[in-house]
Amino acid sequence: MEPEAYWFFQVLHASFCVLIFTFTILSLFSLSFCLLRPKLWCNCEICRAYLSSSWSKQFENLCDWYTHLLKNSPGKTIHIHVLGNTITANPDNVEYMLKTNFDNFPKGKPFSTILGDFLGRGIFNVDGDSWRFQKKMACLELGKHSIRSYAFEIINCEIINRLIPLLSSVATGKEQRVLDLQDVFRRFSFDSICRFSFGLDPRCLELSLPMSKFATAFDLASKLSAERAMTASPLLWKIKRVLNLGSEKQLKKAVKIINILAKEVIRQRRKMGFLTHNDLLSRFMCTVNDETYLRDIVISFLLAGRDTVASGLTSLFWLLAKHPNVGSAIRQEADRVIGQNQELTSFEQMKELQYLQAAVYESMRLYPPIQFDSKFCQEDDTLPDGSFLKRGTRVTYHPYAMGRMEEIWGPDCLEFKPERWLRNGVFSPENPFKYPVFQAGFRVCLGKEMALVELKSVALSLVRRFQVELVAPHRTPRFSPGLTATFSGGLPVLVRERESQS
Ligand code: HEM
Repeated sequence: MEPEAYWFFQVLHASFCVLIFTFTILSLFSLSFCLLRPKLWCNCEICRAYLSSSWSKQFENLCDWYTHLLKNSPGKTIHIHVLGNTITANPDNVEYMLKTNFDNFPKGKPFSTILGDFLGRGIFNVDGDSWRFQKKMACLELGKHSIRSYAFEIINCEIINRLIPLLSSVATGKEQRVLDLQDVFRRFSFDSICRFSFGLDPRCLELSLPMSKFATAFDLASKLSAERAMTASPLLWKIKRVLNLGSEKQLKKAVKIINILAKEVIRQRRKMGFLTHNDLLSRFMCTVNDETYLRDIVISFLLAGRDTVASGLTSLFWLLAKHPNVGSAIRQEADRVIGQNQELTSFEQMKELQYLQAAVYESMRLYPPIQFDSKFCQEDDTLPDGSFLKRGTRVTYHPYAMGRMEEIWGPDCLEFKPERWLRNGVFSPENPFKYPVFQAGFRVCLGKEMALVELKSVALSLVRRFQVELVAPHRTPRFSPGLTATFSGGLPVLVRERESQS
């Protein structure tokens, strides 16, 4: 055959192969979409309001609309047919899915596929044996007294050396400067969780430095992964991923940066010797050899412990600014337990601050950092309130709505009242299935103690030293879409030093 003709047939053959490949991929996607899609149209009132976004005329946030629907539902459970999602604020249902019939409500494949590129096989993203193995290992490490003191040390070092000087510089500056407290808390929690997880200090809270490359890539990857969950059908982002387009191309790039940096951290840790270090990575290195698995484990902790803490702090300070009496009560208790102008000295001393603990719990009752959490029903099932679940249904429990239910918290459920958590002045926890802010049952948050130390330490230090005033006191929180509750537009405040430090 002539060389030109040979060349022509080669090109034709290659083009034909590409065409067949693309056609096969698209056909497979379409087939799986047809088989797995939820109903595309439903004429019920809730679905119509959802599809037309008419709910937004009456409610600022989707979670407020869901709360309204759940309040008015006799079983405290609703169904959004077009999303294939059953949403509940009924504590009996929550206990059933998180404990009684736990095995029938895994996170499921749809969730792990969405977060898979970013989180890999990390604890946050797996079910079954891989989850059990990581949980066992993490519980062993996180349960140790040494790691609690280690967390306390890191957090207080970050507060004393960075957070307080930063706020002081703003408070004592010549001109009154507006500070976005949410941004400050995001930087603070990223530094703290990186030091805790890797023994590495990204110095994000030094505002003069640009956000570290790692933090920026991490933010982008979690934002883009969350956006995958919001596309009308998973087919859309999957096609974009195959073709390496738009947000999927950006996500790939961000994950690549995270992987390079995580690999480097692991290499350095190994070189420096991990047996003498206290951070989580060093502790896991004693049992795990596989580098990718180590990366996945630590990245999951970073995701779990960063935005949640920043979110908890942001809403706590929003509430404290609106309720100065609560700030005064926190100061009075601190003066009594720690002493006027004295500093907290240990993790043990913090446990005596009962009112502070109540204020933190109360703030997360009204503004939980994770407003809702979904599982997938593996086999047909019936919830205790009688709701039937077809296999494959997404089932969501909704801590934000649950915190606003009169049936659980009484007629003053919308008020910010830390006293509701105290019995004779002592903090008294509520049934965790009525307050699943840290989840509950078998997959309860493993960083709860560390999170509470962070929230309480920051609240205590700042409330005793500074007066925080909202720039827009009449604005109610508006949340940006994402995995964790984030105030859209941040939390702009003015900060002043308090005259007396108590
Ligand atoms: C106020 C702060 C926090 C809140 C409200 C919170 C809440 C939660 C919730 C709701 C879950 C369940 C998520 C799910 O399974 O879909 C969870 C899981 C988890 N959290 Fe937290 N968390 C906080 C801080 C932290 C911190 C600081 C760490 C790390 C030191 C952490 C580590 C984890 C881990 C490892 C899991 C996975 C547990 C498992 O799947 O068995 N969390 N958290």
